[in-house]
Amino acid sequence: MKAITVTPRTSNSARLRDIPQPTLDDVPGGRGVLVKVLRVGLDGTDKEINAGEYGAPPPGSDFLILGHESFGVVEQVGPAVTEVAPGDHVVCMVRRPGDSIYDSIAMPDFTLDETYHEHGINLLHGFLTEAYVDEPRFLIRIPGELRRVGVLMEPTSVIEKGITQAFEIQRRMKVWRPERAAVLGAGTIGLLAAMALRLRGLDVSTFGLDEPPYLNSDLIEALGARYLSTKRVSLPDASKEFGPFDLIFEATGFSPLAFEAMGELGKNGVLVLSSVTGGSRTTEVKSDALNLGFVLGNKVMFGTVNANREHFEAGVRDLATCQAHYPGWLERLLTHPIHGLEKYEKAFEALGERGAIKVYVEVAPLE
Ligand code: BGC
Ligand code: ZN
Repeated sequence: MKAITVTPRTSNSARLRDIPQPTLDDVPGGRGVLVKVLRVGLDGTDKEINAGEYGAPPPGSDFLILGHESFGVVEQVGPAVTEVAPGDHVVCMVRRPGDSIYDSIAMPDFTLDETYHEHGINLLHGFLTEAYVDEPRFLIRIPGELRRVGVLMEPTSVIEKGITQAFEIQRRMKVWRPERAAVLGAGTIGLLAAMALRLRGLDVSTFGLDEPPYLNSDLIEALGARYLSTKRVSLPDASKEFGPFDLIFEATGFSPLAFEAMGELGKNGVLVLSSVTGGSRTTEVKSDALNLGFVLGNKVMFGTVNANREHFEAGVRDLATCQAHYPGWLERLLTHPIHGLEKYEKAFEALGERGAIKVYVEVAPLE
């Protein structure tokens, strides 16, 4: 069968390759689940891997199958599988357990290990292929009604982890009634974060680079949220007008903004950092003022990466609620469908295009 692979640490090495078909017996004890891949989303991480900046192949392999944002349908299950059945739609979790205590309690997203194992990213093959076999404990069932937007599940799990943690951390307050949120960044993650915060009733200001109107600002406004271009209004000015922000979700990929956001966080507020910034940028900050604001304002800032089953399941609920409140909104994020694995070069081109929100490969039709 076909797969899109890269030679990690080599730039522009993506290519179509023939690989052996997986079988149920790849998982022992009759616990295998054979999943037919339907759609796979691509993001900045895939771009970095194909640029040779990131990623590693599985031990013993000189290539890595790309793709971590999967959506598929169960084709066959082993005799000892009860959790899923043929015909069920599923998404596979990205990170596999390592050796720390968190790994042993199904929270590999909090691993203490230095190296982590992630499908399509680090040391484990991904899903940009026709089928894969895995254990039920790594699969999340997606209601068939969500199949058209199921490819958004993995990025949704990432924002769910950030927001779930923000609310858990804020239990320190006994009573926390967040009213105003700022989302920095209006890409897929920023849009999904704005959506999830609107579903929780917050007044949301989303900051993007581009000037409105364009698709992303329209999408923000369709949620009843506010889109602000940083070309027209600065973060401090906006926070005077629309803040103080009880929660700020940073998802721009531009690390200096994390420090700017620290200065605009309201008292008792929580700042969520989610940008994976692989570069080596440095910046100067007003350290006394920022530190003082955090101390006197009892503020919290935390980083978040990846997601575990709890966050995927929260994502399923939010995607379903979003479909009910804002019908058609999630579909509008799917701007760049690429038909067929063999068109992978187009997928990488689309990732850099203006107007691209979710680029995904349609490996097989949804039915
Ligand atoms: C993925 C996460 C992953 C992170 C770091 C992101 O693109 O969506 O699941 O943990 O990259 O590798
Ligand atoms: Zn990703």
